[in-house]
Amino acid sequence: MKKLVAVAAIILSGTSLFAQTTVKISADKGEHIINRNIYGHFAEHLGRCVYGGFYVGEDNQAIPNVAGVRTDVIEALKDLKVPVLRWPGGCFADTYHWMDGIGPKSERPSIVNQWWGGYIEDNSFGTHDFLNMCEALGAEPYLAGNVGSGLVKELADWVQYVNHAEGSPMADLRIKNGRKEPWNVKYWGVGNEMWGCGGNMTPEFYANLYRQYATFLTDWNNSGGMFRIASGANEWDFNWTEVLMRDIPNNMIEGVALHNYAVIEWNDKGSDIDFNRNQYFETMKDAIDMEELVTKHSAIMDKYDPEKKIDLIVDEWGGWYDTPEGQTALYQQNTMRDAMIAGITLNIFHNHADRVRMANLAQTINVLQAVILTDEEQMILTPTYHVMKMYNVHQDATMLPVEISDMLYFEEGENKLPAISASASTTKAGETNISLVNIHPEKAHEITLEIAADGKLTGQILASDKLQDYNSFENPDNIVPTEFKGFKKKGNTITVKLPAFSVVVLNIK
Ligand code: AHR
Repeated sequence: MKKLVAVAAIILSGTSLFAQTTVKISADKGEHIINRNIYGHFAEHLGRCVYGGFYVGEDNQAIPNVAGVRTDVIEALKDLKVPVLRWPGGCFADTYHWMDGIGPKSERPSIVNQWWGGYIEDNSFGTHDFLNMCEALGAEPYLAGNVGSGLVKELADWVQYVNHAEGSPMADLRIKNGRKEPWNVKYWGVGNEMWGCGGNMTPEFYANLYRQYATFLTDWNNSGGMFRIASGANEWDFNWTEVLMRDIPNNMIEGVALHNYAVIEWNDKGSDIDFNRNQYFETMKDAIDMEELVTKHSAIMDKYDPEKKIDLIVDEWGGWYDTPEGQTALYQQNTMRDAMIAGITLNIFHNHADRVRMANLAQTINVLQAVILTDEEQMILTPTYHVMKMYNVHQDATMLPVEISDMLYFEEGENKLPAISASASTTKAGETNISLVNIHPEKAHEITLEIAADGKLTGQILASDKLQDYNSFENPDNIVPTEFKGFKKKGNTITVKLPAFSVVVLNIK
C-alpha cells in the first residue's frame, strides 16, 4: 500500500518512476571547435533595426552616440561578444546600391525601401557607418551583395572599395571619403534568398550566376581571406543545396547558406506574447526542426565535400510572429518562448560544429527575435540576449559530444517533442561548460549528467513564472540570469533539477 502511494505521488508530481533523463558527455572525444561565428547577428534595413535601433544620427542630442551609433547598443553588444554582423539584408540587400550610401551625407540620394513598407530612406547609414561600427563592436562584417538587381561590376567595385589598399579607382574614392586603411572584409554574401525575393531563380540558374560573381570577387590583399557565401536553401529545399554543391566547383565557394524561421503558419503566425500551449508546442517543433535540417543539408554537402571544407551558414534563424498593431515592420516582443528557441538552436549548432560554422540570428534590434529593443532613448535586453550571453562561454571551445537517454517528452495531443536539449564544450583554459534546456511548459525534470571532469561547479539559470513573461521598458529586469544551485555532484555524476521552461549553463573549473 505504502509503495502504491509513493508511485501515485511520483506520477502526480510529473516524474516517472523509472525514467530519469541521462546526459552522457564524452569529455575525451572533443574533436571540433565551436566556431564563435555561430553567435553571429543580422541587421537589415527593416523597420527600426538600423534606423532608430543601431543608428540615431550624428546630430541626435537626446541619445548618446558615437558617429550616430547608439553608445548603449554598442556596449550591450560588446558584452554579448558579437563575433560577426550581417548587413544590409535580407531581401533589402538585393535592392541596395552601395554607392548611394557613400560620400557626404547631404548629397546622398534617397531610396524607397520596397520590401519593408515602401518608406523613404536617406542613405545616411552606409558602408563607412556600418564598417566603422563593426570595428567599434570588435565584430567581423558580413556584407550581403546585390545580385538580384545589381551587376557583377557593382559588387566587384564594392569589394575593391572596402578591401583594396590604394591606387585603384575604388580605393582612391574610399580614401577621398575619409578612410585611409581598407577594412579587409572577409565575408561576402552572393545575394540573398535567390529562390524568392532575390530574383525567384531556379537553383541551376543561380549556380551559374554565382560562378560568374564568385570569379570577380577578388581578394585584393592576396591574403587568402575572401570568404564567399552562396545564397542558400529555404528550410526543406534540399534540391537547392544539392544543385549548388553539384554545379559550383569547391574552390569557388567557402560557405552555403540556409534559412529557417520558427513560424507556426506563415499566414497566421500568432501573437508574440499572447500564445497558448498549442502555439508554444508548434513554435518549439519548428525550432527543433533545425536539427533535421542541418543534418540533412550537411549530408548533401558531405557527398560533394567529404572533407568538410565548405561551411554551412545558417544566416537567418529565429522566431517570427505577427507584428503587433501599430508597431514598425517585423517588431515583436521576446518572451521565455524565445529564450527556449535560442537555447535549443544554439545547442543544435554546437552539436553540428563540424559543418555549421556561422549563424546569424534574425535580427539584432527591434526586428523578429531581437536581442535588444529600443524606444527612443530607452533600451532593454531581451531573454534571448541573456541566453546568448550565458552561452557565449562556448565560443571557440571544443565541442564535447553528448548522448541523451530516457528523454522527457513535451506532449500535445497525439504529438510529442523531446523536452531536454544539451550541449557541452571545453575551453582552451580547461573549463567545461554544459548548456541544458527544458522546454516542457509544466514539468520540472531531474537530469543525471555523466562527465569525467573535476573542478568547482557553478551555474546560471534563466527562468520565469510564465512562458509569456518578457522584459518591458517599465520592467526591464523582469527576466535576468541568476545563480543556479539546483545540482549535486558526486564523482563523475551531477544531478541537476531543471525547472520547467528554463535554460541552465553549468561551469566546471
Ligand atoms: O529577416 C527578415 C526577412 O526574412 C529577410 O529580409 C529575408 O531574407 C527573409 O525572408
